[in-house]
Amino acid sequence: MSDRPVGVFDSGIGGFSVLNALQAELPNERFVYFADTAHAPYGERGDDYVATRTRAVTRHLVDAHDIKAMVVACNTATAAAIHLLRVDHAALPLVGVEPALKPAVAISRTRRIAVLATRGTLASAKFNALLASLAAQADFSLVPCDGLAAAIEANDAAGIASLCARYAAAAGTFGIAAGEVDTLVLGCTHYPFVAEQLRASTGAEVHYIDTGAPVAQQTRRLLAASQQLAVSATRQEDTADATDTTRDTRTTLLLASGHPSQLDAAASRWLLRSAAPAAVFSAAAMAAA
Ligand code: DGL
Repeated sequence: MSDRPVGVFDSGIGGFSVLNALQAELPNERFVYFADTAHAPYGERGDDYVATRTRAVTRHLVDAHDIKAMVVACNTATAAAIHLLRVDHAALPLVGVEPALKPAVAISRTRRIAVLATRGTLASAKFNALLASLAAQADFSLVPCDGLAAAIEANDAAGIASLCARYAAAAGTFGIAAGEVDTLVLGCTHYPFVAEQLRASTGAEVHYIDTGAPVAQQTRRLLAASQQLAVSATRQEDTADATDTTRDTRTTLLLASGHPSQLDAAASRWLLRSAAPAAVFSAAAMAAA
């Protein structure tokens, strides 16, 4: 058992959709969430840039926060860098996210599936290998959603509404009749937060697929396999002093490379469980890391 925290990382607030699932699946764990907001969005930046940032953030979470596992809660960063992290941190349990094409194939009846993701994810070798392995089983329409993660970061309601309408239209005709797209893969961790706006274009019957719950279950499996799950709820109640909040092992710490107030606002909007206010992380310290 280990009460060291689990690291969770995204370019910005998108990983909150994964953090919510992690907190539900692993209620006794402590999490350190790093939003690389000074460098977001990642989706249109190119692999080298995203890989450099992902490696630097992971190094920081390992060195400064002694994380026991790392969840890369970003499809773009996973595609660009998870193979490099596996070399950099061979002993660290690592969980990445990728667009959930297999579950989409399993659930689609019309065999027409739309994938919304960043340009970087859709161009990656990792995604294209996955796509090739399933191409015979369904017809996929791929929609790079430039600007959508940035609009979500900025909480720009008008921008979100118009981009959601534009990208849903680009994905094809939605519905459950033959020839229609009946399944939508949310291939970026930001997009579950605009599912309602997308529904305005797709209708209620279309299946939406995101990866929060399976990623949380995989994290639990890796922690269990390495015997690093935090103490059980029963043990915690037995041993913790309820009035001593410093001993609350379930605290989530938020870190941002950019200004923390935007992250705090997003946390109060999207996180299902409260977190400590975000701390600004020093870019200079990370450069030295
Ligand atoms: N949330 C991210 C993803 O899952 C990245 C969005 C972005 O920074 O462009 O791909």
